[in-house]
Amino acid sequence: MRLQGKEIVLGVTGSIAAYKAVELLRELVKAGASVKVVLTQSAQRFVTPLTFATLSRQEVMTDLFTLDYDAKIRHIAATEGADLLLVAPATANTIGKFARGLADDLLTNLFLASTRPVLLAPAMDADMFRHPAVQENLERLRSWGVRVVGPAEGELASGMWGPGRLAEISEILRAVTEILQPVHDLAGEVVLVTAGPTHEPIDPVRYLTNRSSGKMGYALAQEAADRGAHTILVSGPTALAAPRGIEVIQVQTALQMRAAILDHLPKATIVLKAAAVSDYRLSKPSKSKLKKSDESHFLELVPNPDILREIGPQKGARIVVGFAAETGDLVRHAERKLKEKNLDLIVANDVTWEGAGFSHDTNHVIMIDLYGEIEEVPLSPKRHVARRILDRVVRLQKKRESRG
Ligand code: PMT
Repeated sequence: MRLQGKEIVLGVTGSIAAYKAVELLRELVKAGASVKVVLTQSAQRFVTPLTFATLSRQEVMTDLFTLDYDAKIRHIAATEGADLLLVAPATANTIGKFARGLADDLLTNLFLASTRPVLLAPAMDADMFRHPAVQENLERLRSWGVRVVGPAEGELASGMWGPGRLAEISEILRAVTEILQPVHDLAGEVVLVTAGPTHEPIDPVRYLTNRSSGKMGYALAQEAADRGAHTILVSGPTALAAPRGIEVIQVQTALQMRAAILDHLPKATIVLKAAAVSDYRLSKPSKSKLKKSDESHFLELVPNPDILREIGPQKGARIVVGFAAETGDLVRHAERKLKEKNLDLIVANDVTWEGAGFSHDTNHVIMIDLYGEIEEVPLSPKRHVARRILDRVVRLQKKRESRG
């Protein structure tokens, strides 16, 4: 009964995935939570209040306007005593209203009136989910501290394939438990994370870069902070909002990233290098915009310092984790990097695998540690992969302590 005594307000909105909220409710109640359900008008086209009332053994809240003044205040106060406002499934429409501060029904009023943690589990068609409006709304909500779980990739009700499926119920339950019963197994640690690409200038308007979005590194930083670590994130240019409770240092180039890392390294106890650092930079970036001509143009590139290789030999008692982005022969290349860079753990992703590596919300990785132990994390949200990586780091720390 890991949610015993916890009060959750479960908002259900109008998506075909609303039927899965019935199973979610059952699991929350089974885990000991007291759950008040709010159904939007559209949700009631898919599922009935009776189902939720029966399973929650509580009155289901549906409509703001049928209530008298006192009752309305009581309903708006519903989240005050609650530990969490969970909205699953959350449609693009509800996400949009939350992000823009609109309050035209009970659930949107509750969101605005709530001071409690909020967790959203989006569900919609893949094209809707990818639309910049939805992405921007989710980023805006995240920047206010709203947590988001999923969506998962897979076959959708429309027959399309892509991101938009409601996260698995087990994944939503895990996210709920993390919020309500945070594990603080990294308390006292200082975790230095790198994320994103670097930009190597060609001239004032052009640069060399790669496809890294920063999502893997940001997920690691958020996971480390949520587990109690003082977390420092050295980030290349990304479109992501700064995560909660994390010291963020923004950099552009590999040389700037190196300087920021070396600056913060002395206090770090764990280093996680998820950034895709450019291996080369221009020997002489132009100070003015290069003019177009019909001639071929050659750029002279010089190698950037390999930051990880530099840290490896001076790691001391730190746990140092590198990443390897490969396009084949994953384990062999990763093992070589693990040894050459004197790492404790390498997280290898084959960026040609479906849903893995650059830009995706998911990743599929193989972890290899210095003792030769190999562990695969199947395709799953980057936050889940981050959790598994940090679980592994904690185990490595314990192993090192027990060996003296
Ligand atoms: O950001 P996302 O879109 O979420 O994508 C995630 C990711 C694919 C970028 C991530 O999972 C990943 O694989 N990051 C490492 C990418 C990379 O640069 O791999 P590499 O095999 O070239 O480098 C190996 C390691 O050395 C990495 O830890 C890298 O940070 C480090 N390195 C590389 C070059 C360099 N000059 N300095 C470094 O420190």
